[in-house]
Amino acid sequence: MARSILNDGFFESFASSVLDFSEAESLPPACYVDQEFFEFEKETLFFKEWLCVGRESWVKEPGDYFTSKHVGEPLVITRTKEGEVAAMSAVCQHRGMVVAEGRGHTRSLVCPYHHWVYSLNGELVGAPEMGRTCDFDRKDHGLPRLKVEIWQGFVFVNFDADAPALASRLSALDEVVAHYDLANLDGPPPSDPVRYSWNWKVMFENNNDGYHANRLHRGPLHDPIPSALAAFPELSDESAGYYRTNGSTHPDASFNPTQRALLPVFPKLTDEERNRVLFVNVPPTLSLVMNTDMILYLVMQAEDADHHSLMMGALVAPGAMENPMFDRLMQFNQESVAEIVSQDLHVDEMVQQGLKSKFAPRGRYSWQEGAQRQLNVWLVERYRRGWEQFKARLQ
Ligand code: FES
Ligand SMILES: [Fe+2]
Repeated sequence: MARSILNDGFFESFASSVLDFSEAESLPPACYVDQEFFEFEKETLFFKEWLCVGRESWVKEPGDYFTSKHVGEPLVITRTKEGEVAAMSAVCQHRGMVVAEGRGHTRSLVCPYHHWVYSLNGELVGAPEMGRTCDFDRKDHGLPRLKVEIWQGFVFVNFDADAPALASRLSALDEVVAHYDLANLDGPPPSDPVRYSWNWKVMFENNNDGYHANRLHRGPLHDPIPSALAAFPELSDESAGYYRTNGSTHPDASFNPTQRALLPVFPKLTDEERNRVLFVNVPPTLSLVMNTDMILYLVMQAEDADHHSLMMGALVAPGAMENPMFDRLMQFNQESVAEIVSQDLHVDEMVQQGLKSKFAPRGRYSWQEGAQRQLNVWLVERYRRGWEQFKARLQ
């Protein structure tokens, strides 16, 4: 039987991944491909950190709901009668059916299997033909609740009832995104999540890799946002998220054949902000690609070491969607983005294969890969903490 890779030496080896880029090397390949390590990540990251599930605007009215899934856990998010956003496990506490799929509007959540009825808060309020069942109290069988926080219009949930608040640890990012008015933006409905055969971190890293922009994506669609203008500002260790910027060769540059923003530019942006793309990250689930006319949000939903799903959507400036040409402009944008993304997806798939090789490296970084180190810093602190807790539980 294979020996566990989880040991002190393995975790000590992470130290070289958080050095300055000039000295750092990537995390051990096992962190991307090993299922035991993924189970450790599940306990350490996904059941402890804040996970993005969607936008608050998707549950505007009491009775609105949408669903999500992280690490295989089906979740339902509602607007309650009291006007609060609530998040719950969507697993029926009778025999495990999933009580809600997709999105909609409802007075209560009715499990399709045997019609147990849950309130929008998750309380079990109806359970047919359970009167002869001994010691059955509906109060004991509600849907398990998760903590909820809203940051800049994004709904985050947390499985850990003792988790420290999120928004107060994102104040540095609040300053960076202030001129986009992110909390009040809207956009067309997001894509359904698409399942991919690679580790969630491969996706997260690719989206933040300034180094490949002029190489993999060389050509007119990406050239206005060149690798040479990448920057990776440092935030304090207290920050729960981080950001990077990539300057552009001209104002309001965009990834389409005109190389310019097609939609109305966010009205409060400064000249400096109009000459760059901003990438904002709240690991382990949310990445934002902030152009001057459109913000793409990527929600990564880890599943196992080799799989995750990606939900992608766009936010645009107020009034942009009222333009009768809006759908056509979005389609034009999306076709160009799709060309870039298809190059990324091929690389991601191949990287996951490469990371399984016995020749998989702990690679060295270019200065244009500062975001890989930013993620390593975020991860390693949590991995170390998780490993100490893991060991304490074994004693
Ligand atoms: S599994 Fe939901 S009511 Fe039976
Ligand atoms: Fe890319």
